[in-house]
Amino acid sequence: MNQFTSVNDVQDIGQLVKDALALKENPYSHQHLGKNKTLGLVFLNPSLRTRLSTQKAALNLGMNVMVMNMDKEGWALETQDGVVMNGTTVEHIREAAAVMGQYCDILGLRSFPKLINRDEDYNEDFFNKFIKYCNVPVVSLESATRHPLQSLADLVTIKETWGGAARPKVVLAWAPHIKALPQAVPNSFAEWMCKAQVDGMLDFTIAQPKGYELSEDFTPGATITHSLDEALKGADYIYVKNWSSFKEYGKVLTYPEGWMLNNEKLVGTNNAKVMHCLPVRRDLELSSEILDGPNSLVIHEAGNRLWAAQAVLKQMLEKL
Ligand code: CP
Repeated sequence: MNQFTSVNDVQDIGQLVKDALALKENPYSHQHLGKNKTLGLVFLNPSLRTRLSTQKAALNLGMNVMVMNMDKEGWALETQDGVVMNGTTVEHIREAAAVMGQYCDILGLRSFPKLINRDEDYNEDFFNKFIKYCNVPVVSLESATRHPLQSLADLVTIKETWGGAARPKVVLAWAPHIKALPQAVPNSFAEWMCKAQVDGMLDFTIAQPKGYELSEDFTPGATITHSLDEALKGADYIYVKNWSSFKEYGKVLTYPEGWMLNNEKLVGTNNAKVMHCLPVRRDLELSSEILDGPNSLVIHEAGNRLWAAQAVLKQMLEKL
């Protein structure tokens, strides 16, 4: 794998899941693969899980790791070409990315959308420029539109915990929030689940209130409904997540009551396991009774971030 920015960079998602689970069984089986190789992790936004799990994954592979909190410690970056830099930006992405590429064999990048201009965010302008100018392989730590390391960990968690004979029913369920959040996690989850559905691994449904439909580019083949109760019937996994509107871009719209998942809503499911990428706002996005109860997979899922990142870095190191 030369870069990891979406499911489209993966040749065989089933094999990548198997690799992640094999690394979970034997974390140090490739501890010499990354010797004398350096991973640089560049954050323009906060992170707990992505930062720590990707660092740990690289250390398990014998890599050196450097972390740059660009938003707090770096120079203010200019991304537009042809501008006279007489304002607040100090360094152009052309030089900044190229210099980081001089120090690192692989770079990881996190850059959230601004949620103001849809075309600008969905063009992934910053991410694509970084990839172009750094001149080394890049792993996405979450971009404006996708969070593939999270989605891989989610698929690993479903494969690992599913013991049924039939394909599990996986539901992505919109949840309330007070802030406008990106569509990156649900886009990416949908994209990976749609691919897994084509590969016969599961059946995939999305439930969201009217106005919160995701871009169709990320949901080919998904069953889509505006009824949470309908979606939850017979569900084996419920992936809870808030996102802001794609149609009325970046807006928090009004929605009917009853979109926060609680134990009552699990009646009628197949004793569904509940997932969330975290961080989660308790009793706003997801009820404490679920988070603290036997159906929650959220900590297990966060733990699997490590093995997802390690499987991806392993494949990237093998291509260096
Ligand atoms: N799920 C996730 O990406 O968590 P962080 O934002 O803390 O990295």
